[in-house]
Amino acid sequence: MPHKVSLSRLKLTDFRNYAAASLVLDGRHVVLTGDNGAGKTNLMEAVSFLSPGRGMRRAAYGDITRVGAQGGFSIFAELDGMEGDVEIGTGIDTSDEVTTRRLRINGTTAKTVDELTDHLRVLWLTPAMDGLFTGGSSDRRRFLDRLVLSLDPEHGRRASDFERAMRSRNKLLDEGRFDPSWLSGIEEQMASLGIAMALARQEMLGLLTRLIEESRETSPFPSASLQLSGFMDGQFSRPSVDLEDEYTATLAANRYRDAGAGRTLEGPHRADLIVHHREKQMEAARCSTGEQKALLVGLVLAHARLVGNLTGHAPILLLDEIAAHLDEGRRAALFDLIDGLGGQAFMTGTDHQMFAALAERAQFFTVAEGRVFE
Ligand SMILES: Nc1ncnc2c1ncn2[C@@H]1O[C@H](COP(=O)(O)OP(=O)(O)O)[C@@H](O)[C@H]1O
Ligand SMILES: [Mg+2]
Repeated sequence: MPHKVSLSRLKLTDFRNYAAASLVLDGRHVVLTGDNGAGKTNLMEAVSFLSPGRGMRRAAYGDITRVGAQGGFSIFAELDGMEGDVEIGTGIDTSDEVTTRRLRINGTTAKTVDELTDHLRVLWLTPAMDGLFTGGSSDRRRFLDRLVLSLDPEHGRRASDFERAMRSRNKLLDEGRFDPSWLSGIEEQMASLGIAMALARQEMLGLLTRLIEESRETSPFPSASLQLSGFMDGQFSRPSVDLEDEYTATLAANRYRDAGAGRTLEGPHRADLIVHHREKQMEAARCSTGEQKALLVGLVLAHARLVGNLTGHAPILLLDEIAAHLDEGRRAALFDLIDGLGGQAFMTGTDHQMFAALAERAQFFTVAEGRVFE
Protein backbone atom coordinates (compact mmCIF):
# COMPACT_ATOMS: atom_id res chain seq x y z
CA MET A 1 0.00 0.00 0.00
CA PRO A 2 1.24 3.51 -0.70
CA HIS A 3 1.73 5.90 2.20
CA LYS A 4 -1.52 7.60 3.19
CA VAL A 5 -1.36 11.36 2.81
CA SER A 6 -4.06 12.73 5.11
CA LEU A 7 -5.35 16.05 6.34
CA SER A 8 -5.58 16.42 10.09
CA ARG A 9 -6.86 19.96 10.16
CA LEU A 10 -8.67 22.27 7.79
CA LYS A 11 -9.53 25.89 8.53
CA LEU A 12 -11.40 28.21 6.21
CA THR A 13 -11.85 31.95 6.46
CA ASP A 14 -14.24 33.88 4.23
CA PHE A 15 -14.28 31.01 1.77
CA ARG A 16 -17.57 30.81 -0.20
CA ASN A 17 -20.40 30.51 2.34
CA TYR A 18 -18.02 29.91 5.28
CA ALA A 19 -17.15 32.94 7.41
CA ALA A 20 -14.98 30.69 9.55
CA ALA A 21 -14.92 26.93 9.81
CA SER A 22 -12.54 24.48 11.38
CA LEU A 23 -12.38 20.71 11.05
CA VAL A 24 -10.24 18.32 13.01
CA LEU A 25 -9.72 15.13 11.04
CA ASP A 26 -8.37 11.81 12.22
CA GLY A 27 -7.03 10.43 8.92
CA ARG A 28 -10.04 8.33 7.99
CA HIS A 29 -12.24 9.15 5.00
CA VAL A 30 -14.42 12.21 5.41
CA VAL A 31 -18.14 12.09 4.67
CA LEU A 32 -19.95 15.42 4.35
CA THR A 33 -23.71 15.35 4.31
CA GLY A 34 -26.31 18.09 4.32
CA ASP A 35 -29.01 19.75 2.28
CA ASN A 36 -28.51 21.28 -1.14
CA GLY A 37 -26.62 24.53 -0.88
CA ALA A 38 -25.29 23.75 2.61
CA GLY A 39 -21.64 24.08 1.63
CA LYS A 40 -20.49 20.50 1.01
CA THR A 41 -18.97 21.13 -2.40
CA ASN A 42 -17.49 24.39 -1.14
CA LEU A 43 -15.57 22.49 1.52
CA MET A 44 -14.18 20.11 -1.07
CA GLU A 45 -13.30 23.00 -3.30
CA ALA A 46 -11.24 24.40 -0.44
CA VAL A 47 -9.28 21.13 -0.28
CA SER A 48 -8.78 21.28 -4.05
CA PHE A 49 -6.87 24.54 -3.50
CA LEU A 50 -4.14 22.46 -1.90
CA SER A 51 -3.11 21.69 -5.46
CA PRO A 52 -1.86 24.16 -8.12
CA GLY A 53 -4.48 25.88 -10.23
CA ARG A 54 -7.84 27.45 -9.58
CA GLY A 55 -9.45 24.57 -7.76
CA MET A 56 -12.00 22.03 -8.86
CA ARG A 57 -14.53 24.64 -10.01
CA ARG A 58 -11.91 26.65 -11.90
CA ALA A 59 -13.48 29.69 -10.35
CA ALA A 60 -12.36 33.30 -10.47
CA TYR A 61 -10.80 34.24 -7.13
CA GLY A 62 -13.31 37.05 -6.71
CA ASP A 63 -16.18 34.55 -6.73
CA ILE A 64 -14.61 32.47 -4.02
CA THR A 65 -14.23 35.13 -1.37
CA ARG A 66 -17.34 35.16 0.82
CA VAL A 67 -19.86 37.76 -0.22
CA GLY A 68 -19.63 40.53 2.35
CA ALA A 69 -16.08 39.68 3.48
CA GLN A 70 -13.63 42.53 4.05
CA GLY A 71 -10.47 40.97 2.60
CA GLY A 72 -9.79 37.82 0.59
CA PHE A 73 -10.28 34.19 1.52
CA SER A 74 -7.83 31.91 3.23
CA ILE A 75 -7.39 28.19 3.71
CA PHE A 76 -5.14 26.55 6.25
CA ALA A 77 -4.36 22.86 6.41
CA GLU A 78 -2.21 20.54 8.47
CA LEU A 79 -1.34 17.22 6.95
CA ASP A 80 0.79 14.15 6.98
CA GLY A 81 2.24 14.81 3.55
CA MET A 82 4.66 13.22 1.11
CA GLU A 83 7.60 14.74 2.95
CA GLY A 84 6.18 14.38 6.45
CA ASP A 85 4.06 16.74 8.52
CA VAL A 86 3.42 20.05 6.87
CA GLU A 87 1.33 23.19 7.35
CA ILE A 88 -0.06 24.86 4.28
CA GLY A 89 -1.72 28.25 4.12
CA THR A 90 -3.14 29.67 0.92
CA GLY A 91 -5.55 32.37 -0.16
CA ILE A 92 -5.75 35.74 -1.77
CA ASP A 93 -5.18 39.21 -0.53
CA THR A 94 -7.52 41.75 -2.09
CA SER A 95 -5.25 44.65 -1.19
CA ASP A 96 -2.82 43.51 -3.90
CA GLU A 97 -3.10 45.28 -7.22
CA VAL A 98 -3.36 42.03 -9.12
CA THR A 99 -5.03 39.19 -7.31
CA THR A 100 -2.68 36.26 -7.16
CA ARG A 101 -2.78 33.25 -4.95
CA ARG A 102 -0.48 33.32 -1.96
CA LEU A 103 1.03 30.19 -0.56
CA ARG A 104 2.91 29.55 2.65
CA ILE A 105 4.41 26.19 3.44
CA ASN A 106 5.52 25.68 7.04
CA GLY A 107 5.32 29.43 7.51
CA THR A 108 7.58 30.28 4.59
CA THR A 109 6.28 31.96 1.45
CA ALA A 110 6.51 29.53 -1.45
CA LYS A 111 8.01 30.70 -4.75
CA THR A 112 5.37 28.99 -6.86
CA VAL A 113 2.15 27.10 -6.17
CA ASP A 114 3.80 24.10 -7.83
CA GLU A 115 5.55 23.50 -4.49
CA LEU A 116 2.26 22.03 -3.29
CA THR A 117 2.90 18.93 -5.37
CA ASP A 118 5.92 18.11 -3.18
CA HIS A 119 3.50 17.50 -0.31
CA LEU A 120 0.30 16.11 -1.72
CA ARG A 121 -1.65 15.27 -4.85
CA VAL A 122 -5.35 16.03 -4.93
CA LEU A 123 -7.65 14.39 -7.47
CA TRP A 124 -11.35 14.98 -7.91
CA LEU A 125 -14.50 13.81 -9.54
CA THR A 126 -17.47 16.16 -9.58
CA PRO A 127 -20.94 16.15 -11.15
CA ALA A 128 -19.71 18.97 -13.41
CA MET A 129 -17.52 16.36 -15.11
CA ASP A 130 -20.52 14.22 -16.08
CA GLY A 131 -20.61 15.72 -19.57
CA LEU A 132 -16.91 15.06 -20.18
CA PHE A 133 -17.41 12.55 -22.99
CA THR A 134 -20.15 14.44 -24.79
CA GLY A 135 -18.82 17.97 -24.41
CA GLY A 136 -16.10 19.84 -26.27
CA SER A 137 -12.52 18.60 -26.59
CA SER A 138 -11.06 21.37 -24.44
CA ASP A 139 -12.61 19.88 -21.30
CA ARG A 140 -11.18 16.47 -22.13
CA ARG A 141 -7.80 18.02 -22.83
CA ARG A 142 -7.88 19.75 -19.47
CA PHE A 143 -8.91 16.49 -17.80
CA LEU A 144 -6.10 14.66 -19.58
CA ASP A 145 -3.54 17.28 -18.63
CA ARG A 146 -4.61 17.12 -15.00
CA LEU A 147 -4.07 13.38 -15.06
CA VAL A 148 -0.57 13.97 -16.42
CA LEU A 149 0.11 16.82 -14.02
CA SER A 150 -0.53 14.74 -10.93
CA LEU A 151 2.19 12.35 -12.07
CA ASP A 152 4.52 14.84 -13.66
CA PRO A 153 4.34 18.32 -12.08
CA GLU A 154 6.57 19.69 -14.90
CA HIS A 155 3.72 19.22 -17.33
CA GLY A 156 2.00 22.44 -16.30
CA ARG A 157 5.06 24.55 -16.98
CA ARG A 158 5.55 22.95 -20.38
CA ALA A 159 1.93 23.57 -21.31
CA SER A 160 1.96 27.22 -20.26
CA ASP A 161 5.32 27.84 -22.00
CA PHE A 162 3.91 26.25 -25.14
CA GLU A 163 0.82 28.49 -24.93
CA ARG A 164 2.99 31.56 -24.54
CA ALA A 165 5.19 30.66 -27.53
CA MET A 166 2.13 29.91 -29.62
CA ARG A 167 0.59 33.24 -28.73
CA SER A 168 3.70 35.09 -29.87
CA ARG A 169 3.68 33.15 -33.14
CA ASN A 170 0.00 33.90 -33.69
CA LYS A 171 0.65 37.56 -32.99
CA LEU A 172 3.53 37.80 -35.46
CA LEU A 173 1.45 36.07 -38.13
CA ASP A 174 -1.54 38.24 -37.36
CA GLU A 175 0.57 41.36 -37.78
CA GLY A 176 1.93 40.04 -41.06
CA ARG A 177 5.49 39.90 -39.74
CA PHE A 178 6.75 36.82 -41.55
CA ASP A 179 10.33 37.24 -40.36
CA PRO A 180 11.65 33.70 -40.95
CA SER A 181 14.42 33.71 -38.37
CA TRP A 182 12.18 35.08 -35.66
CA LEU A 183 9.36 32.67 -36.47
CA SER A 184 11.73 29.72 -36.75
CA GLY A 185 13.04 30.36 -33.26
CA ILE A 186 9.53 30.40 -31.83
CA GLU A 187 8.47 27.36 -33.82
CA GLU A 188 11.46 25.33 -32.65
CA GLN A 189 10.55 26.19 -29.10
CA MET A 190 6.92 25.22 -29.73
CA ALA A 191 8.06 21.94 -31.23
CA SER A 192 10.26 20.93 -28.34
CA LEU A 193 7.60 21.85 -25.76
CA GLY A 194 4.70 20.51 -27.81
CA ILE A 195 6.29 17.14 -28.45
CA ALA A 196 7.28 16.83 -24.79
CA MET A 197 3.66 17.54 -23.84
CA ALA A 198 2.33 14.99 -26.27
CA LEU A 199 4.82 12.35 -25.12
CA ALA A 200 3.97 12.95 -21.46
CA ARG A 201 0.28 12.49 -22.25
CA GLN A 202 1.02 9.37 -24.23
CA GLU A 203 3.20 7.91 -21.51
CA MET A 204 0.57 8.51 -18.82
CA LEU A 205 -2.12 6.91 -20.98
CA GLY A 206 0.12 3.90 -21.55
CA LEU A 207 0.64 3.40 -17.82
CA LEU A 208 -3.03 3.91 -17.09
CA THR A 209 -4.03 1.48 -19.81
CA ARG A 210 -1.76 -1.18 -18.37
CA LEU A 211 -3.18 -0.67 -14.89
CA ILE A 212 -6.79 -0.80 -16.15
CA GLU A 213 -5.90 -3.98 -18.00
CA GLU A 214 -4.52 -5.58 -14.84
CA SER A 215 -7.55 -4.74 -12.70
CA ARG A 216 -10.15 -5.59 -15.34
CA GLU A 217 -11.26 -8.79 -13.66
CA THR A 218 -11.77 -7.29 -10.23
CA SER A 219 -13.12 -3.83 -10.98
CA PRO A 220 -16.85 -3.24 -10.42
CA PHE A 221 -16.69 -0.61 -13.17
CA PRO A 222 -16.51 -0.97 -16.93
CA SER A 223 -13.00 -0.54 -18.27
CA ALA A 224 -12.04 2.31 -20.51
CA SER A 225 -9.75 2.12 -23.47
CA LEU A 226 -7.91 5.36 -24.02
CA GLN A 227 -6.47 6.97 -27.10
CA LEU A 228 -4.98 10.28 -28.03
CA SER A 229 -6.05 11.78 -31.29
CA GLY A 230 -5.68 15.00 -33.22
CA PHE A 231 -1.92 15.53 -33.08
CA MET A 232 0.76 13.27 -34.57
CA ASP A 233 -1.54 10.29 -34.24
CA GLY A 234 0.13 6.92 -34.00
CA GLN A 235 3.63 8.34 -34.31
CA PHE A 236 4.81 8.39 -30.74
CA SER A 237 7.06 5.38 -31.00
CA ARG A 238 9.37 7.42 -33.25
CA PRO A 239 12.37 9.20 -31.70
CA SER A 240 11.34 12.50 -30.20
CA VAL A 241 13.91 14.47 -32.24
CA ASP A 242 12.24 13.24 -35.42
CA LEU A 243 8.86 14.26 -34.10
CA GLU A 244 10.19 17.69 -33.19
CA ASP A 245 11.72 18.16 -36.64
CA GLU A 246 8.50 17.13 -38.27
CA TYR A 247 6.36 19.45 -36.17
CA THR A 248 8.80 22.34 -36.75
CA ALA A 249 8.55 21.74 -40.50
CA THR A 250 4.74 21.56 -40.29
CA LEU A 251 4.60 24.88 -38.48
CA ALA A 252 6.93 26.52 -40.99
CA ALA A 253 4.90 25.18 -43.91
CA ASN A 254 1.63 26.35 -42.39
CA ARG A 255 2.50 29.97 -41.67
CA TYR A 256 0.26 31.47 -44.32
CA ARG A 257 -2.57 29.05 -43.61
CA ASP A 258 -2.39 29.76 -39.86
CA ALA A 259 -2.22 33.50 -40.51
CA GLY A 260 -5.43 33.18 -42.51
CA ALA A 261 -7.10 31.13 -39.81
CA GLY A 262 -5.94 33.52 -37.09
CA ARG A 263 -4.56 30.64 -35.02
CA THR A 264 -2.18 27.72 -35.05
CA LEU A 265 -4.10 24.85 -36.59
CA GLU A 266 -1.82 22.00 -35.62
CA GLY A 267 -0.40 21.14 -32.27
CA PRO A 268 -0.91 19.51 -28.89
CA HIS A 269 -3.51 22.18 -28.12
CA ARG A 270 -5.78 20.45 -30.63
CA ALA A 271 -5.41 16.93 -29.26
CA ASP A 272 -8.34 15.02 -27.86
CA LEU A 273 -8.73 12.10 -25.48
CA ILE A 274 -10.88 9.39 -27.03
CA VAL A 275 -12.43 6.98 -24.55
CA HIS A 276 -14.17 3.73 -25.39
CA HIS A 277 -16.23 1.42 -23.20
CA ARG A 278 -14.07 -1.62 -23.68
CA GLU A 279 -16.48 -4.42 -22.97
CA LYS A 280 -19.09 -2.88 -25.24
CA GLN A 281 -16.60 -1.63 -27.82
CA MET A 282 -18.54 1.60 -27.82
CA GLU A 283 -17.31 5.16 -27.90
CA ALA A 284 -18.01 6.73 -24.48
CA ALA A 285 -19.92 9.61 -26.03
CA ARG A 286 -22.48 7.11 -27.31
CA CYS A 287 -22.87 5.20 -24.04
CA SER A 288 -25.80 5.79 -21.71
CA THR A 289 -25.51 8.46 -19.02
CA GLY A 290 -25.15 5.77 -16.37
CA GLU A 291 -22.47 3.96 -18.36
CA GLN A 292 -20.58 7.20 -18.87
CA LYS A 293 -20.61 7.89 -15.15
CA ALA A 294 -19.41 4.36 -14.37
CA LEU A 295 -16.61 4.71 -16.95
CA LEU A 296 -15.55 8.02 -15.47
CA VAL A 297 -15.54 6.75 -11.89
CA GLY A 298 -13.51 3.72 -12.98
CA LEU A 299 -11.07 5.94 -14.86
CA VAL A 300 -10.54 8.41 -12.03
CA LEU A 301 -10.05 5.66 -9.46
CA ALA A 302 -7.63 3.79 -11.73
CA HIS A 303 -5.68 7.02 -12.10
CA ALA A 304 -5.65 7.50 -8.33
CA ARG A 305 -4.17 4.03 -7.98
CA LEU A 306 -1.55 4.86 -10.60
CA VAL A 307 -0.54 8.03 -8.73
CA GLY A 308 -0.24 6.00 -5.51
CA ASN A 309 1.84 3.31 -7.21
CA LEU A 310 4.20 5.71 -8.94
CA THR A 311 4.75 8.24 -6.17
CA GLY A 312 4.44 5.85 -3.23
CA HIS A 313 1.87 8.24 -1.71
CA ALA A 314 -1.86 7.80 -2.08
CA PRO A 315 -3.52 10.99 -3.35
CA ILE A 316 -6.33 12.79 -1.58
CA LEU A 317 -9.57 12.10 -3.41
CA LEU A 318 -12.49 14.51 -3.63
CA LEU A 319 -15.58 12.62 -4.74
CA ASP A 320 -18.52 14.98 -4.95
CA GLU A 321 -21.98 13.35 -4.98
CA ILE A 322 -20.28 10.07 -5.63
CA ALA A 323 -22.92 7.80 -4.12
CA ALA A 324 -25.86 9.32 -5.93
CA HIS A 325 -27.60 7.06 -8.44
CA LEU A 326 -25.90 3.90 -7.22
CA ASP A 327 -27.77 1.04 -5.61
CA GLU A 328 -26.66 -0.26 -2.23
CA GLY A 329 -24.58 -3.12 -3.58
CA ARG A 330 -22.65 -0.97 -6.03
CA ARG A 331 -22.14 1.70 -3.38
CA ALA A 332 -20.59 -0.83 -1.01
CA ALA A 333 -18.33 -2.10 -3.82
CA LEU A 334 -17.34 1.48 -4.61
CA PHE A 335 -16.46 2.22 -0.98
CA ASP A 336 -14.34 -0.92 -0.78
CA LEU A 337 -12.53 0.11 -3.93
CA ILE A 338 -11.92 3.64 -2.65
CA ASP A 339 -10.73 2.28 0.67
CA GLY A 340 -8.41 -0.11 -1.15
CA LEU A 341 -6.59 2.79 -2.80
CA GLY A 342 -5.09 3.60 0.57
CA GLY A 343 -5.72 7.34 0.52
CA GLN A 344 -8.01 9.74 2.35
CA ALA A 345 -11.22 10.35 0.40
CA PHE A 346 -13.71 13.16 0.91
CA MET A 347 -17.23 12.25 -0.13
CA THR A 348 -20.47 14.19 -0.16
CA GLY A 349 -24.13 13.33 -0.31
CA THR A 350 -27.47 14.55 0.93
CA ASP A 351 -28.10 11.59 3.23
CA HIS A 352 -25.62 9.99 5.59
CA GLN A 353 -27.43 6.66 5.28
CA MET A 354 -25.96 6.39 1.80
CA PHE A 355 -22.56 6.01 3.42
CA ALA A 356 -23.57 3.47 6.06
CA ALA A 357 -21.40 0.77 4.47
CA LEU A 358 -18.29 2.84 5.26
CA ALA A 359 -19.10 2.56 8.99
CA GLU A 360 -15.94 2.99 11.08
CA ARG A 361 -13.82 3.67 8.02
CA ALA A 362 -15.03 7.27 7.81
CA GLN A 363 -15.53 10.34 9.93
CA PHE A 364 -19.00 11.83 9.41
CA PHE A 365 -19.78 15.54 9.30
CA THR A 366 -23.03 17.40 8.87
CA VAL A 367 -22.90 20.62 6.91
CA ALA A 368 -25.58 23.28 7.31
CA GLU A 369 -25.55 26.93 6.28
CA GLY A 370 -21.81 27.25 6.15
CA ARG A 371 -21.19 25.40 9.42
CA VAL A 372 -19.76 21.95 9.97
CA PHE A 373 -20.49 19.59 12.86
CA GLU A 374 -18.99 16.17 13.46
N1 LIG B 1 -18.57 33.74 -2.58
C1 LIG B 1 -19.63 33.28 -1.91
N2 LIG B 1 -20.08 33.88 -0.78
C2 LIG B 1 -21.12 33.40 -0.11
N3 LIG B 1 -21.81 32.32 -0.46
C3 LIG B 1 -21.42 31.66 -1.56
C4 LIG B 1 -20.31 32.09 -2.33
N4 LIG B 1 -20.16 31.26 -3.38
C5 LIG B 1 -21.13 30.33 -3.25
N5 LIG B 1 -21.89 30.57 -2.16
C6 LIG B 1 -23.04 29.80 -1.69
O1 LIG B 1 -22.67 28.50 -1.32
C7 LIG B 1 -23.77 27.65 -1.48
C8 LIG B 1 -23.45 26.41 -2.28
O2 LIG B 1 -22.63 25.65 -1.58
P1 LIG B 1 -22.24 24.23 -2.13
O3 LIG B 1 -21.06 23.82 -1.35
O4 LIG B 1 -22.14 24.20 -3.60
O5 LIG B 1 -23.55 23.40 -1.69
P2 LIG B 1 -23.75 21.85 -1.56
O6 LIG B 1 -23.79 21.56 -0.10
O7 LIG B 1 -25.07 21.61 -2.22
O8 LIG B 1 -22.63 21.18 -2.25
C9 LIG B 1 -24.83 28.38 -2.27
O9 LIG B 1 -25.88 28.72 -1.42
C10 LIG B 1 -24.07 29.58 -2.78
O10 LIG B 1 -24.91 30.69 -2.94
MG1 LIG C 1 -22.63 20.14 -3.99
